[in-house]
Amino acid sequence: MDRKPLIAGNWKLNKNCSESVEYIKKFGELVKGVNDVEILLAPPFTSLYVANENCPDNINLSSQDLYINENGAYTGQISPGMVLETGCKYAIIGHSEMRQFFGDTDSLVNEKIKASISVGLKPILCIGETEKDRDLNNTFSVLDKQVRKGLESFSESDLKDLVIAYEPVWAIGTGKTATIEIVQEVHSYLRDLIAKMFHNEFSEQLRILYGGSVKPSNVSELMNLEDVDGALVGGASLDPLEFSKIVKFKG
Ligand code: PGA
Repeated sequence: MDRKPLIAGNWKLNKNCSESVEYIKKFGELVKGVNDVEILLAPPFTSLYVANENCPDNINLSSQDLYINENGAYTGQISPGMVLETGCKYAIIGHSEMRQFFGDTDSLVNEKIKASISVGLKPILCIGETEKDRDLNNTFSVLDKQVRKGLESFSESDLKDLVIAYEPVWAIGTGKTATIEIVQEVHSYLRDLIAKMFHNEFSEQLRILYGGSVKPSNVSELMNLEDVDGALVGGASLDPLEFSKIVKFKG
């Protein structure tokens, strides 16, 4: 099955509006003509609008989160419709930092996926075990629960644009990339799990990204793995040249 690689840069809490525009201008030049890889940037909410104004056609945008309601008395929140209006095509949902620091539970993640689908934003569901989970041999039960609860009650057609990002928490921002054995083992486990929950064909077309200390020096070996369809990149996406090297992993 042909799955178009997706390389996404998650800027987290970095770059104001002018820095975002400066980045996109530089980065746009560096990745000019790259069309065999889908390129995605996830700037902070406040930069999305200007990022979109300056984005070339071969770069798409994602939010880093969204709220479940469209409007109302929810101070500090951003609705799916607002995200869509800035020009975003995707929404990152359930990132481990949202789970750790900002109260994302599996059921809230499920509602956020529903909210994104309701306006046509493609959800990127992030999952991953902590170091403790791995040490206790709980990796697969943790991932199983995050996937089943996160995707509970959706049909295949609801999830036609779903992307899953496997990001072991112990590999995020630590410089410790998971070994290729671990990554392939988990990705193939996830593809089998999705096949069990839905159908084989659905699972075969689903893109599963790896995230956690991806950089120019390790992206190719990760992308060579059968079940790795892309990368979600944090730290190494902050520099346009560095991130362009990751995007051009094919050489
Ligand atoms: P990192 O972050 O590349 O800095 O490890 C990945 C992520 O959190 O998506």
